[in-house]
Amino acid sequence: MSAASFADRLVTWYDEHGRHDLPWQRDRNAYRVWVSEIMLQQTRVATVIPYFDRFTTRFPGVTDLATAEVDAVLGLWSGLGYYGRARHLHQAARILVARHGGVFPTDLEAWCALPGVGRSTAAAVLALAMEIRHPILDGNVKRVLTRHQAIAGWPQDPSVLHPLWALAEACTPHQRVAAYTQAIMDVGATVCTRTRPACVRCPVGHDCRAYALGRVADFPTPRPKRVLPIREIRLVMLVDSTGAVLLERRPSSGVWGGCGVFLSVPQITIQRSGLPCTMV
Ligand code: ADE
Repeated sequence: MSAASFADRLVTWYDEHGRHDLPWQRDRNAYRVWVSEIMLQQTRVATVIPYFDRFTTRFPGVTDLATAEVDAVLGLWSGLGYYGRARHLHQAARILVARHGGVFPTDLEAWCALPGVGRSTAAAVLALAMEIRHPILDGNVKRVLTRHQAIAGWPQDPSVLHPLWALAEACTPHQRVAAYTQAIMDVGATVCTRTRPACVRCPVGHDCRAYALGRVADFPTPRPKRVLPIREIRLVMLVDSTGAVLLERRPSSGVWGGCGVFLSVPQITIQRSGLPCTMV
């Protein structure tokens, strides 16, 4: 794949079809982009918009946020969910004011050191707000890249995640990095959707490997199902001549259970169901 042409096609598509009037794209600055990226971490654009507008009206800049009471911040987050995001945003604002004098850092490491900011969020803020080139790899981008290159394997698995970051890096252009970053997120959110993707409208569809294979729905590979372990144990229950079962308390203040003693007896196989095993 030619990285330049992949990026060029996305940027050209973005100029014509991408989203250009989202609230955080107006009066664009690092603070507004950062707040929007945190809100968008687990939440759809349409849900975020009114929360973003109220939040940035009440806290127009990082100092306003840093000096606010946490309850005021949580109040404006109320209904958006995942409240840890609001607490982290508030803590990070205080760190930005205390340690950086309220000036937004321009390096990835400083952003990643802030509460609630992972590598992809840090990169998105730098790319979208400051035109500083860093690859992003959020859920939408993982879907676009795994389909385009037919990359099998669960993307959270390090053996898949590391090459995906390398691919994201190779695809990121040196010019118009903000447009490219918004473009690949928009394609993931509106064209290369999880279900019923609109491949015929996709700007990178003609060399999409998953599309050529007729296997778009197979990517990205879902998280593997947890294999329930099979435990093989040997035990006896101690029963006295009257039929009474010897019980012990485990821990000493805990519940009473059968007193199992591991001995050389024929094996009993218990398939664990996730529920506590009962001794027979
Ligand atoms: N999801 C995460 N970041 C986004 C952005 N900047 N625009 C649209 N959707 C997003």
